[in-house]
Amino acid sequence: MTEPAAHIWTGDDLTDDEFAAITQLLRERRQFDLAQYKDRCIRRRIAKRLRSCKAADVASYLKRLEMDRDELDTLLATISIHVSQFFRNPDTYRILEQKILPDLCRRARAAGRTELTLWSAGCASGEEPYSLALLVDDMNVRDLKINILATDVSEPVLDAARCGTFEALRLKEVPPEVLNKYFHGENGHYQVIERIRNQVEFRQHNIMTASDYPPADLILCRNVMIYFTREEQERILSRFATTLPEHGALVLGRSETMTGDIRRYYQSEFPVERVYRRTAEPVTVADI
Ligand SMILES: C[S@@+](CC[C@H](N)C(=O)[O-])C[C@H]1O[C@@H](n2cnc3c(N)ncnc32)[C@H](O)[C@@H]1O
Repeated sequence: MTEPAAHIWTGDDLTDDEFAAITQLLRERRQFDLAQYKDRCIRRRIAKRLRSCKAADVASYLKRLEMDRDELDTLLATISIHVSQFFRNPDTYRILEQKILPDLCRRARAAGRTELTLWSAGCASGEEPYSLALLVDDMNVRDLKINILATDVSEPVLDAARCGTFEALRLKEVPPEVLNKYFHGENGHYQVIERIRNQVEFRQHNIMTASDYPPADLILCRNVMIYFTREEQERILSRFATTLPEHGALVLGRSETMTGDIRRYYQSEFPVERVYRRTAEPVTVADI
């Protein structure tokens, strides 16, 4: 007997109760609150998982989610989309290398500081912070300690990032000489050399719920907030403003925009690349 064809889930076919039950499980068991994400995006991601599992109905999928911790993690990983790439949008990295990082170093020296901190918020499997680490290594700054902090909400993704092994596909923007210098290749996979891996500190951190934002001179938060509501994006951008010093830099994803009153905290410096500088405007408590 042939099996009936599996329903092709789209996300719009989940009832509000089913959607609420799934998001409640993620909130209770993984402390992942989806209230501030755009519902349609989340529905589409849940549907992707339902299709992969060939789920016939949501009730049985919910039972599975309750019993199977791995499925809950897989769903969370599907929802929080971890796509990244080394040197994603190469022009952004060129600006960082030629303009922003030298300027931040100059300002740090002038202020008598000995350290700088670069923060990749929503670092996925590490492509972004490792790209920063490669840039910094190449700049060969001797008189300042440059810390690279990489955070993400997802622990499985951070474990992969710490391991630093990537498929060749993720490395297509890496020039061959950089690949030879900084990676060990084996069976179509490449691992970042230990010295560079040790330069990046990976830490779990949820930019939506955390009350502690680490101080940083440069924040890259690219392609992370696109699924968040406008209000949540503005709240997070205000919090970044509390942690950046005046002239500190913020980089968003190429398709992201900054709207609303919080723009007074930032001056756009390279508009196409979404590179902003922190202004001197003090942060209003109501914004955070
Ligand atoms: C599409 S990836 C972006 C990776 C990298 N920034 C880039 O542009 O290539 C989005 C990352 O944001 C993370 N993320 C989603 N919600 C988050 C949150 N509330 N706090 C921290 N990270 C989050 C996801 O786990 C995922 O790894």
